Amino acid sequence: MYLNREEERMLDGEFGEGVAKCMKLLVTLGELFEAKEMVKIRSSHVSGVSYKNIGDPGLELIESFAEENVKVKVKTTLNPMGMDRERWKEMGLERSFAEKQLRIVKAYEKMGVISTCTCTPYLVGNNPKFGEHVAWAETSATVYANSVLGAKTNRESGLSAFASAVTGRTPYYGYHLEENRKPTVHVKLKFKPKDSLEFSVLGYLVGKNFPNSVPFISGLHEASLDELKTLGAGLASAGAITLYHVEKLTPESRFFRDEDVKNCEKFSVGQEDIRKTISEISEEEFDCVFLGCPHCSLEQLENVADFLRGKKVNCRLWVFTSKQVFEKAKKLGYIDIIESAGGLVLSDTCMIVSPFEKLNITKVVTDSCKAAYYLPSTVGVKVKLENPRKILEEITV
Ligand code: F3S
Repeated sequence: MYLNREEERMLDGEFGEGVAKCMKLLVTLGELFEAKEMVKIRSSHVSGVSYKNIGDPGLELIESFAEENVKVKVKTTLNPMGMDRERWKEMGLERSFAEKQLRIVKAYEKMGVISTCTCTPYLVGNNPKFGEHVAWAETSATVYANSVLGAKTNRESGLSAFASAVTGRTPYYGYHLEENRKPTVHVKLKFKPKDSLEFSVLGYLVGKNFPNSVPFISGLHEASLDELKTLGAGLASAGAITLYHVEKLTPESRFFRDEDVKNCEKFSVGQEDIRKTISEISEEEFDCVFLGCPHCSLEQLENVADFLRGKKVNCRLWVFTSKQVFEKAKKLGYIDIIESAGGLVLSDTCMIVSPFEKLNITKVVTDSCKAAYYLPSTVGVKVKLENPRKILEEITV
């Protein structure tokens, strides 16, 4: 693999042991995937932040980099951590967990990382432009960066994204190359998804059937950014989809001609397929509501607040977002409305990466296929799928 002079100096340890370790990891990765060279990146997004997931070995590794005075070279954000940094007691978590979690975040901060912990970094200022190379981890964020923003990233691990943040480089292979960004399956919609649940299930269904594809979706004439976010999270959860195109809606779709799509495998999805999929993966009961997978935007929090104004919820309602969106929503009064109704808005964390198994929650309702996919296998929780409006109607008096 070709390295330029600066990259060689990084590998040789001229910028310190920590930088050398990061460059070595990227060279190994690049050689594994037959990358010919490195490419400079504009930003990074690092996963593997929760103490629940990385434990003491991960904590020690991150602190060791921070102690060596390693600094990130590009704008770098973090994925959700295992708790809300101010409200961990309300989540029912122990001090010993909170202390270790905060040490992880502090070590990242010392290295220059922006410590908002969210799976929607593009809503809090890590917002790459069309065509820029980045190194992002977190499946839902990666697919959004590639598909909706038109940036270029592979689906990085927490460690490779961190190594890229430190060196400002990533191996030049996979979705960084134009030839790998072409559609491989043509998804024809025979219905119009009408809410976040249907976007999520559509993504799940395509991801399950074509796990390593680049879908080109036609027949979807309009979708908000929140709906594309939800669609992408669904696509990336059941499969390894890292890039999709929606005809006339996502930025790269305009580059593909009929012949590019004509030779792709075909897959049609109708309303009945969505209904069947929901009934296959959805349980009937729930005692807790989760909204915000991926993390809620300001507009989604506004919708929840609008519905809950003057009402009361009759079961546990947890809504997840990033710290920055939380603060904006607080100023606009949305948080107070949701919490006066009995809900709890948590920031910088989520149900999958918190030590949820200790909280005595066994049955959950959500509008997210990603949550429905991971919750049963990671924390043994049963999941009902429902659209957010219906969920709120069911739990309010
Ligand atoms: Fe985000 Fe957690 Fe869902 S990281 S996409 S809220 S599983």
